[in-house]
Amino acid sequence: MAENTSLSGFFYSLFRKKSIEAYQQEANRSGLRRALGRWALVSLGIGAIIGGGIFTLTGVAAKNYAGPALAISFVIAGFACLLAALAYAEFASIVPVEGSAYAYSYVTVGELIAWFIGWNLILEYMMGATTVAVAWSGYFEKLLHLFHLELPLWLTNDYFTAQAKAQAMGLEPPAFAFNLPGFLVTWLVTGILLRGIKETASTNNLIVLIKVGAVLFVILVGLFFVKPENWTPFIPPAEVDAQGNVHYGWPGVFTAATIVFFAYIGFDAVSTQAGEALQPNRDVPFAIVASLLITTALYIGVSVVLTGMVPYSQLDERAPVASAFAGAGVGWATYLITFAAVAGLISVMLVMLLGQTRIFLAMAKDGLLPEALFGYVHPVYKTPFRSTLLVGTIMSFTAALVPIVNVSELTSLGTLLAFTLVSLSVFILRVRQPKLPRPYKAPLWPLVSLGGVLVNIFLMSQARKENLRAFAIWAVIGLLVYFLYSRRRSKLHTANSA
Ligand code: ALA
Repeated sequence: MAENTSLSGFFYSLFRKKSIEAYQQEANRSGLRRALGRWALVSLGIGAIIGGGIFTLTGVAAKNYAGPALAISFVIAGFACLLAALAYAEFASIVPVEGSAYAYSYVTVGELIAWFIGWNLILEYMMGATTVAVAWSGYFEKLLHLFHLELPLWLTNDYFTAQAKAQAMGLEPPAFAFNLPGFLVTWLVTGILLRGIKETASTNNLIVLIKVGAVLFVILVGLFFVKPENWTPFIPPAEVDAQGNVHYGWPGVFTAATIVFFAYIGFDAVSTQAGEALQPNRDVPFAIVASLLITTALYIGVSVVLTGMVPYSQLDERAPVASAFAGAGVGWATYLITFAAVAGLISVMLVMLLGQTRIFLAMAKDGLLPEALFGYVHPVYKTPFRSTLLVGTIMSFTAALVPIVNVSELTSLGTLLAFTLVSLSVFILRVRQPKLPRPYKAPLWPLVSLGGVLVNIFLMSQARKENLRAFAIWAVIGLLVYFLYSRRRSKLHTANSA
């Protein structure tokens, strides 16, 4: 009997929930500095969203899958993100704390799933930012190359990538390699974050001006080089290749949507800034949706212009936008676009790393991670100092030494899972507590939340098998950490056993 009771107690403990009131009280005594107004938050959203995706993925997506209908793929991916964004916005208005999807799940589906989401957000934020650091190193090399400067292979790649590249180029394989640009840019970002939220926001604003300027340049100047005949046929007829993959037609348009989904990742990071927002209940929901809508409009503009400038079958797969301008005789645009990407990726890293440390902070406050390390807020800078330093150290060495450029799909998987659970949690909370005051309510309930669940699960199902396997291994490690460490140290556990 006693064993039965403890077994049911064990299962009960996995689904224990933190109360919304407890979060709301905590939100009023955040140790962080509240310095972000409505437009600073929108700017952080855009800073996180616009990165390498729009300048690179458009090529593969249009050339191989969507043709001129690339804009429709961006509309579909943007719509899927909007469903999740509305769910995030509703939750951010009810539980305006830095824990984002982790906190939203803690109040609705309980501790184990909340932990699991927090664990997956590491894939989105920390792993995502590390892949961006490696991508940044590639753009930085391109920028140097434009000025006829070259860095050696062993100083711009991890050991394994350097070996593979040396072999492919018929060079002597290096005995040692270290991605120095990737390492240094991570410390640049870490340094800005350590200084404070105001410094972070003003650096981000400057970068956002540069990259939005570059995107507007592409749209407005590109318009002059559009040949409308390139848009016909708008959706090329479907073709099936030897492996059975469908190119073009509506299936191709959907595949392209899953590819360009990556270009939208980042809008949810705004929700992790609730602890630093001046009016989180109102401004965070606004900024999540506004930053997504602004970037969707920009992305559609770029897709329409790009596919109008170059016949889709001739698009460059590696640097489609820069190559389109070079082909149109505007060669100097390559400098502008490469510079915008180099600057732009810095703010993506900045906001992702910011988000990661805030989620760790939320988990540490709840006892699920060591508080002295992840919950410590610097008394002067008001930033999670030790956690930022630790994350910066891990990221910088991973970017310098590990071949991780291909893990961006894992980043997308972690993100999609978070989107799915946030949409589901909104639904559950509406059923359970219909009268709860909601400063922002997502429209068209339950279509929006259930639609969000279905669309995001569908996008997850499109992932390649090896990535799903890696994702499962990551999940098992996360569960081990939970059962061996976090479960017993959870503040809800200690409160119950006291
Ligand atoms: N949305 C970001 C990018 O496109 C991650 O780089």
